[in-house]
Amino acid sequence: MTDDPSLSIDRALRQELEGWRRAGLSHLPMPPRKRTATTPASAKPVAMRTPTGASSASRTTLKSVTAPAVSMTHALPVVSEPLPPSPHSAGSREDREWRLNQLRQRVAACTRCQELASARTQTVFGVGNPEARFLFIGEAPGADEDAQGEPFVGAAGKLLDKIIVACGMKREDIYICNILRCRPPGNRKPLPEEAGNCREWLDGQIAVIDPDFIVCWGATAAQNLLGSEESIGRLRGRSFQHGRANVLCTYHPSYLLRNPAAKKDVWEDMKLFLKQAGLPVPA
Ligand code: URA
Repeated sequence: MTDDPSLSIDRALRQELEGWRRAGLSHLPMPPRKRTATTPASAKPVAMRTPTGASSASRTTLKSVTAPAVSMTHALPVVSEPLPPSPHSAGSREDREWRLNQLRQRVAACTRCQELASARTQTVFGVGNPEARFLFIGEAPGADEDAQGEPFVGAAGKLLDKIIVACGMKREDIYICNILRCRPPGNRKPLPEEAGNCREWLDGQIAVIDPDFIVCWGATAAQNLLGSEESIGRLRGRSFQHGRANVLCTYHPSYLLRNPAAKKDVWEDMKLFLKQAGLPVPA
């Protein structure tokens, strides 16, 4: 819990907006109003679009729609049109690969976070088995990932590889992605608006992979996926549900590089994960 009431309100508002977004709304309606000396030119009314494209109760007609004001774009990210129907049998490997590829193309063209889009070498979509039972979620690409276009290929990725091997698993058993698909400058923490802008892509990947288990690596992944403000220290060691998937949280490999003493905690978390997944638990 935070002591700052404005942060609680902000969080409650974000949760409410996220619920609307999941229900299919792509824009927040603002009542039409006369422009006054204090109303900036960008703050024009916007219309609510329902999944069927029908206009909302707001009397704003689609003809009068302009781009949402910047603050609204951040509060309620624009959601793209649904993917076209896949030509493959639903749920087959080909279907999953096809849908991931559609999402990948949209991500590659995404400029919702202008600072990130203008600084990136490329987007870092995700990698792994489209039929994986296990989805690993990290924070955001770093310099190595930005250069190579794959998540977890730098020093943290090498440690993650060791953890995967220690668990008796292979990278091919897993699908890996991040909360963000672009590198934040200087590897700073993702901003809430950036995580919100990227959420559509994360949700899309989760929907395609449809994993049994999600492991959140670090506070950014855990707090964003679960909509929690609890510390990673409090979130780890517990089970959460996200749709069909069982969610476990643990420390980020980068944190382990700085604090090797925490490796024993991650190992406990991995043993819990393996046990819940019905996989052999190394002694
Ligand atoms: N850290 C992350 O969280 N993700 C990456 O892809 C690389 C480092």
